[in-house]
Amino acid sequence: MSRWPSTPGLAWGADYNPEQWPDEVWDADVDLMRRAGVTLVSVGIFSWALVEPEEGRYDFALFDRVLDRLHAAGIGVDLATMTAAPPPWLTTRHPDVLPVLADGTRLSPGSRQSYCPSSPVYRERATALARAVAEHYRDHPALVAWHVGNEYGCHVARCYCDRSAEAFRAWLRERHGDLDALNEAWGTAFWSQHVTDWDQVLPPRATPTFGNPGQLLDFDRFSSDALLELFTAERDVLREVTPDVPITTNFMVGWTFAELDYWSWAREVDFVSNDHYTRSESPDRHVELAMAADLTRGLAGGRPWLLMEHSTSAVNWQERNIAKLPGELRRNSLQHTARGADGALFFQWRQSRAGAERYHSAMLPHAGPDTKVFREVCETGAGFARLAEVAGSTVRADVAIVFDWQSLWASRQPAHPTRDFSYQQLVSDLYAPLWAAGITVDFVPPSGDLSAYRLVVVPGLCAVTDADARRITEHVEAGGTALVTWASGLTDERGHVRLGGYPGAFRDLLGVWTEEFHPLRADERVLLDDGGEVAVWTEHLHPRGAEVIASYADGPLPGVPAVTRATRGAGAAWYLACGLRGEGLRRLVTTVAEQAGATPAGTPADGVELVRRHGRRGDRAVSWLFALNHTSADVELDVAGVDLLSGDPVSGRTTLRAGDVAVIREEEV
Ligand code: GLA
Repeated sequence: MSRWPSTPGLAWGADYNPEQWPDEVWDADVDLMRRAGVTLVSVGIFSWALVEPEEGRYDFALFDRVLDRLHAAGIGVDLATMTAAPPPWLTTRHPDVLPVLADGTRLSPGSRQSYCPSSPVYRERATALARAVAEHYRDHPALVAWHVGNEYGCHVARCYCDRSAEAFRAWLRERHGDLDALNEAWGTAFWSQHVTDWDQVLPPRATPTFGNPGQLLDFDRFSSDALLELFTAERDVLREVTPDVPITTNFMVGWTFAELDYWSWAREVDFVSNDHYTRSESPDRHVELAMAADLTRGLAGGRPWLLMEHSTSAVNWQERNIAKLPGELRRNSLQHTARGADGALFFQWRQSRAGAERYHSAMLPHAGPDTKVFREVCETGAGFARLAEVAGSTVRADVAIVFDWQSLWASRQPAHPTRDFSYQQLVSDLYAPLWAAGITVDFVPPSGDLSAYRLVVVPGLCAVTDADARRITEHVEAGGTALVTWASGLTDERGHVRLGGYPGAFRDLLGVWTEEFHPLRADERVLLDDGGEVAVWTEHLHPRGAEVIASYADGPLPGVPAVTRATRGAGAAWYLACGLRGEGLRRLVTTVAEQAGATPAGTPADGVELVRRHGRRGDRAVSWLFALNHTSADVELDVAGVDLLSGDPVSGRTTLRAGDVAVIREEEV
């Protein structure tokens, strides 16, 4: 379902936690929000203990006053169901609400998200609160969207308690039917794991050594579904009470979180929203940001989405929390917008003076409004207002990357050929050269529709169904191009290895077969005969119809092909059989994209990002070119149109200053 909060233009704002402050601060908040151009705030996310001080007694007086003031200032509210942190009375009365780790430790209250996803008591109390909030605020004019829970799974994505065990069994019955099928799927003939009664089926708790791969993968799937069920339980209550108010929950698409299969979650929300925090020490954090934004747009099915949270400057939960450089919060906000976000919000409005997040930046810092951060917040807010016409427009891409949380989970299990494989690293390594070339990328699920793409990149899709592998093959046969990498096609969806040579599911498509893996030592490097450098992975591959593009010049497999290309039907299938990196990888990826006919958004200088949104103004087709200079030097651009941020017409060569952003409205032909 697709529904969007009724806010004008692009949304701009933050989580607003007025309960941390006395009443007199709220008026100052609203005045300063106006100065900052705030249009939308998320309210009440962690307020359960305040609004339900004892079971069944609700007190919304504080939020009534807050919502009235926000409404009077023309600020919309994304109102939380307030269920993200169960109150002390609940966990004291029902300690079995608390989650349990794989080693049996029951977590204590005193933080947040301290609940077992399968706890019936938590679900009952959370849905009751969601109903009370919905009934109380159903007609409040400030209410523009519902914010269910908060960052599901952020802290507790897996619970191993007895309740979870019961729920896991029910889920397994649904998926596998009977114990024979379960035994077969989990390969329990190995290590005497055959089960003869459902009582013997457990979550993958702490074991003497490696657990069962089928059990681990199913538990990951179950755990994502268990939390999703919790979300839909609250959502259904809201739909019943306020059928017209759009509902979301904030995802955490990005480098640091991978515990939920967001493809299935995305189907259940009215609009997709995401929280994204850069890894502050990474020099390439803007590239990772772009990738997360593109993946979020994929989850939104190409429709606009909302950046629900990011940070104005430092966070407080990384090892070293580096403050953002001048211009960085503006660039980050506009970068998400460039890639499909119809708004950018922060955690949080006013920096806390107490509590665990005191040292996390906010729109309004401890030092007050006369600060670099607040000035930049106001400047960027004003820019967002000037970009109102971009709202509702979309991004187009010639290239798709297949992204699969289930393969990610399978690949991070223990007892694999190398510990140096990282699914996220591989996807990022393939994304980066496309980003640098100005080639926009969509992300699709393994079961996604590929027909719109000239090139489909398939990185490390290790656990793949027959049907999904067939779809990729058919895409090539119909004239598309695929670039499949090592670690793909190895097993079916149960984790059973596909026999007859790797990469099982893609062997025929790629015209190759591999007889043995040769992972490399920690610092070992191998050269290809075209000069490319390889780390982490090589494999003993034989072409069977494919053309050899490059072979190993040294290492354990001298002369063995490392990159191949096969013609299949009307298309081409490339296989990258090794951990190619750096310049060699950039060359390969851009060559494949070029041969596939992928068009870049322009010719970006190094460190400059170009991406386009497309839409309409009245009856005319229009596009907006976002140009973001991530470097500390001025660059020249060749553009024509009007820069909406400066208001200036531009035509021909124009300078984009160091760290600056331009959004150029171009008329489409
Ligand atoms: C997440 C949470 C917020 C806050 C921020 C800090 O996004 O949703 O409540 O904890 O992290 O970065």
